[in-house]
Amino acid sequence: MRDKSLMLIAVLVVLVAAAVGFAVGRKSTPEPHVAAASTTTTPAAASTAEPVAAGDQIDAIRRGAPVNQEIAPPLMARVENADVKRNRAYPMQPPTIPHAIDNYQIDKNSNRCLLCHARANADKFQAPPVSVTHYMDRNDQFLATISPRRYFCNQCHVVQTDAKPLVANTFKDIDTILSEEQDKKAN
Ligand code: HEC
Ligand code: HEC
Repeated sequence: MRDKSLMLIAVLVVLVAAAVGFAVGRKSTPEPHVAAASTTTTPAAASTAEPVAAGDQIDAIRRGAPVNQEIAPPLMARVENADVKRNRAYPMQPPTIPHAIDNYQIDKNSNRCLLCHARANADKFQAPPVSVTHYMDRNDQFLATISPRRYFCNQCHVVQTDAKPLVANTFKDIDTILSEEQDKKAN
């Protein structure tokens, strides 16, 4: 019985404290200033930018925009996570990564890629082990562990995305060139 009344008092005290806290909190919250700053700022670009002749641009990656103007960036490309390998354009091309690599950490202490791609673990994850070049130093000597210059995988390997090429190129792989030569000889 005594416990019950004590409990009742405790609950009342808590409720009153909460109510007081709520009231004080509401009063002390400052009124939100909505968009007050936007009226005072002036576009900085207009005053600092050098005048640029129409069509004055440095490269196609800027999609035709003059160097002193900022344009809306293109949408982020979607990463293909379908485990479908792409063809390599030439034998020494680092293959593109056919899976997502979000949150795969690579730093001094751990390398998430090697969890699956190290020789010792590749069978567990059915991942292709890194090739022998990844164990070679710059004098072509084989090291026992992954070569430091092949440690940061995404220096060379990139994920596959649905991004369109930013610049046109006329690259032909060696098979195309060889078959063109053959055709020339045949004629
Ligand atoms: C959970 C295991 C796992 C992790 C972690 C992982 N991979 Fe993979 N990776 C695979 C598997 C399995 C394949 C085989 C194709 C597939 O199933 O996607 C593969 C395929 C690849 C390929 C294609 C190889 C080829 O011959 O075309 C590359 C390149 C690659 N991974 C690089 C990386 C890099 C770089 C990282 C770290 C950022 C990484 N992987 C992390 C499991 C993994
Ligand atoms: C300096 C550039 C470079 C770095 C860094 C690098 N790679 Fe590679 N990787 C290549 C090249 C080039 C190839 C293709 C030719 C070859 O096998 O050497 C390749 C091939 C591969 C392959 C395919 C192997 C095969 O037998 O077909 C896998 C898997 C791979 N790399 C994973 C990784 C992982 C995982 C890391 C990080 C631990 C890594 N690579 C770091 C350049 C690099």
